[in-house]
Amino acid sequence: MTAVTLTKTTLSEVKADAIIVGVSSGRGGPSLVPGGADVDKAFKKDLLGTLKSMGATGKAGEIVKIATLGRTTAPALVAVGVGPTPAKGKRYDAEALRRGVGAALRSLTGAAGRVATALPSANGDDDLDTLRAVAEGAHLGAYSFTRYRTTGVPRTRAVGSVVLVVKDPRDKKVRAVIDRAAVIADSVTLARDLVNTAPGDLRPDAFAQAAVDACASVGLDVEVLDEKALADGGYGGILGVGAGSSNPPRLVRIGYDGGRSARTTLHIVGKGITFDSGGLSLKPAAAMEWMKSDMGGAAAVISTLRAIAQLKPAVNVVGWLPTAENMPSGQAIRPSDVLTMRNGKTVEVLNTDAEGRLILADAIARAGEEKPDIIIDVATLTGAQLIALGSHVFAVMSNDDALRTELTAVADGAGEQSWPMPLPDELRKSLDSDVADIANTGDRYGGMLVAGLFLKEFVPDGIRWAHLDIAGPSFNQGEPHGYTPKGGTGVPVRSLVDFVESLA
Ligand code: BES
Ligand code: MN
Ligand code: ZN
Repeated sequence: MTAVTLTKTTLSEVKADAIIVGVSSGRGGPSLVPGGADVDKAFKKDLLGTLKSMGATGKAGEIVKIATLGRTTAPALVAVGVGPTPAKGKRYDAEALRRGVGAALRSLTGAAGRVATALPSANGDDDLDTLRAVAEGAHLGAYSFTRYRTTGVPRTRAVGSVVLVVKDPRDKKVRAVIDRAAVIADSVTLARDLVNTAPGDLRPDAFAQAAVDACASVGLDVEVLDEKALADGGYGGILGVGAGSSNPPRLVRIGYDGGRSARTTLHIVGKGITFDSGGLSLKPAAAMEWMKSDMGGAAAVISTLRAIAQLKPAVNVVGWLPTAENMPSGQAIRPSDVLTMRNGKTVEVLNTDAEGRLILADAIARAGEEKPDIIIDVATLTGAQLIALGSHVFAVMSNDDALRTELTAVADGAGEQSWPMPLPDELRKSLDSDVADIANTGDRYGGMLVAGLFLKEFVPDGIRWAHLDIAGPSFNQGEPHGYTPKGGTGVPVRSLVDFVESLA
């Protein structure tokens, strides 16, 4: 991972391969973001003019690169657009800065080892929210997944280190923000790497081992149930979905003890389908293309617990990862098979491609047995999520209005987009089965909500529960943007970490 360090050397004099300045857009044209003032002096007050002549407008995400020709210590300058200039006396929007710094770092992939930038504070003060956004944007933008590359590695190598110019690099609060950003970024990077890893290299046994590797090293308690333990425990959903694969399923429990002052216990359940072929209800080839990412929820849970273990908030947190490979074979479950779940309920499987809810139902029921205050499940659950909210905004459903509101608010503060969605009772009857307690599919219209209603059946009464459908935002099929690369994005790790901390 890229290192982010602090200095008080002026930006024009920092030893680096490139420096980054911001340009914002306004009615009177583009203007320089304050952190670039000292570089402007080195340019005899004509930096903005130079950048404008190269086409800079300040539009969010725009990149203009120029050679500094000896005016600054660094030989290259990247100007990144951060969007609208804030009104007089107002701060730059944190997310706009996070994205801008991310885009600038991304544009330097393969081109620079050491990069520097300054905070956009006109008076030179180190505003902590701004610092957090800039540090996170630097870490997250400087991401590159090179595991499988044997050629062209220099071209895809992420920037190695980022130096931030601040007023007081020794300030304890400033240092704490930088340390926290590194923990968060390490976790988001882990989630991205897990999602990007080829599914043949991360089948359920290897995925469970990856959870052990990531979590035991930071002092978390990790327990793995194998197929025999799952059979003994009556986990019909996880075993049923895993039945078609030659690599049997697992259930991982990760425990974090928040210490004596912890008042709340939160359980987080993540969908860990290492590959979703659809099973016997086989997906068409095009729909299978991204299905290595169907463990994005579980990856986010591993990453969140790993961050929490390092940040040490006074909250008890347990992570659950039901993991299976959804494959067709002579051993696979058939449409119309009936599974008996962990809590004794029976489910008629009408479509083996609605597998996520089956493994989650078992894990939610198991989590419920420990009587936590809150259960949150995180899942790449439905294509309907993409239809409803697209690829940037995840859905939040809940049996508790206040919890749903808290989660969307926390996500907003973390710089991740989410939106509240309902669980209308009227859709529940579409899940009625002719032979069992419930069927695994119902109405196609509102398919995301129907999936949520299915899960709700497995949450014990009296427990506050929320369901995050992250099918779109956890994986970027399109072009990179801001600090978001192609492929795994790490959403919603930052929201989950902030939410856990909000309970302390
Ligand atoms: N993993 C998919 C959902 C998905 C689709 C995630 C696209 C990311 C991108 C899930 O297991 C699935 O196949 N859902 C079905 C459910 C249907 C059969 C009721 C779907 O959404 O089509
Ligand atoms: Mn599926
Ligand atoms: Zn799936």
